[in-house]
Amino acid sequence: MDNSIVISGTGLFTPPESISNEELVESFNAFVDLFNRQHEGEISSGHVEPLAYSSCEFIEKASGIKHRYVMVRDGILDPEIMMPLMDERAADSLSVQAEMGLLAAQQALAEADLDAADIDLVIVACAYTQRAYPAVAIEIQQALGCRGFGFDMQVACSSATFGVSAAQGLIQQGAASRVLVISPEICSAQVNYRDRDSHFIFGDVATAMVVERLQGCRSHLPLQIIGQRCITEYSNNIRSNFGFLNRCTPATAYAADKLFHQQGRKVFKELLPMIYSHLDSQFADAGLEPAMMKRLWLHQANINMNQFVVKKLLGEDVPPDMAPIVLDTYANTASAGSVIALHKCREGLRSGDMGLLCSFGAGYSIGSIILKTV
Ligand code: COA
Repeated sequence: MDNSIVISGTGLFTPPESISNEELVESFNAFVDLFNRQHEGEISSGHVEPLAYSSCEFIEKASGIKHRYVMVRDGILDPEIMMPLMDERAADSLSVQAEMGLLAAQQALAEADLDAADIDLVIVACAYTQRAYPAVAIEIQQALGCRGFGFDMQVACSSATFGVSAAQGLIQQGAASRVLVISPEICSAQVNYRDRDSHFIFGDVATAMVVERLQGCRSHLPLQIIGQRCITEYSNNIRSNFGFLNRCTPATAYAADKLFHQQGRKVFKELLPMIYSHLDSQFADAGLEPAMMKRLWLHQANINMNQFVVKKLLGEDVPPDMAPIVLDTYANTASAGSVIALHKCREGLRSGDMGLLCSFGAGYSIGSIILKTV
């Protein structure tokens, strides 16, 4: 019997609203003017540092990001507010993350030629969930009409690849037969839009993947999982202190450290060698050469970082469609980034072609999955 496990469908929900670098920088710079005016006295006496302007040129050159989608624009660009303003929903209506995850999941199911009732495990794998419990996965399980069980898991930017690995393991164990791995990322709610270093980094999106056995799979485009490898190594260089204990220290419950913050330079320098050695050992153990990869669906945080990884794996002069970039329009969408690339950029692959789905980020964490077109 063929025990192969495949990703048999993918789905993508792109939020209806968007923000360009120009709009974001204009609002940041208006905030800077406001802050510097309000602190004029302290600044001239040397007690407060004046804030510096952001610039589109810096953002594009340093990150490759030009634009991002967001669930809600309202509030983000207002220099007095600088966060998305969302109405809280009643407990008996669908939560925002369930709603966007559901739309991505329906597409993935259609591509896999499955009904919701064929699914017996829903994993919501993303950087943040909007509440502690009940799990967003269980809400989606009910809304779609899936069987079995569901759970949420968080491994920051590597949630989706770790989610596929978990799905594969649970299928192999016999605990589930068909799994939805859904990543509804509302990163905009965790961005500090007043922080020049990071105000441009993130966008919102939802992705979904169906994972099942090749045997019985009805998809026209199944991607066989040839191998997967997950690694984590503790680092404080990408961090959010948001959590359920925040309210126990009221004075700092809304301080800036409760939002995303990072030492971007350090992350860049420390993660790259980790990615290189992780992939080197994964390919060597699988008896494969990186050059055998026809496509690299890489994490989408920074275009320069991706170029280093591509060069290391495939050498110079790699055609851009072999390592697709979506962060120019989507920005960093945490765990969903590499899955957006997988969803959008599979054209031209022939039966037997191999590709790499790879995420890297906070934790640190790296998740990499070698896939083969069936
Ligand atoms: N506009 C204009 N200038 C800015 C700026 C902005 N918005 N933000 C920072 N700068 C300035 C800095 O003040 C600094 O000036 P200096 O040289 O005079 O001190 C200069 O630009 C370089 O800043 P630095 O923070 O070193 O930029 P960088 O080249 O490292 O790029 C990141 C910043 C965040 C884009 C980059 O480090 C990165 O993406 N790292 C990887 C992060 C990652 O993958 N994280 C995973 C997240 S899940």
